[in-house]
Amino acid sequence: MTVGMSIQDGVDVANIEGKVMAAINDKVLDALNQQLNCEFHSAFHYLAMESYFQSIHLKGFGKWMRDQYKEERVHALKILDYINDRGCRVKLAHIEEPPQEWESPLEAFEDAYRQEQDSSGLINGLVDLSQSERDHATHLFLQWFVQNQVEEEAMVGSIVEKLRLVGNDPYGLFLLDRDRG
Ligand SMILES: [Fe+2]
Repeated sequence: MTVGMSIQDGVDVANIEGKVMAAINDKVLDALNQQLNCEFHSAFHYLAMESYFQSIHLKGFGKWMRDQYKEERVHALKILDYINDRGCRVKLAHIEEPPQEWESPLEAFEDAYRQEQDSSGLINGLVDLSQSERDHATHLFLQWFVQNQVEEEAMVGSIVEKLRLVGNDPYGLFLLDRDRG
């Protein structure tokens, strides 16, 4: 094993040539940690929406929100595993309280859509950073998230459009809810 110039704070994985992948630099690591926190926040946001839909007896939408909650947790854990695989420490932070009330199902889904757009923006910013920091592994890792956000936005956006179409028609809402149950 060839060890490079400096070993500080125990093992400096960046300087063990050819044996393990270089550690993530601080800027990228901070941004990944923030993204991890954001994924957990999204999970909480969807969980709060599940509770809202349960409270207004739209169980199908509630179930859909629970599925999104699970997905967002998977995203957070994917980032956590990646940070660990690169030999770095995850920094868990305070998760901001999500909104708790919405005026209507449409407003809740518009909120979910905005959340997905915000997530896409953050992921794109992270991709830019990984490129400018020449962190090819992180850049490659993030491609899954870029593609996933396209699908998430399309899926939530299509429900928003359907809710706009049915407007205040209770039967239309009943059918949309049943489709998701
Ligand atoms: Fe996500």
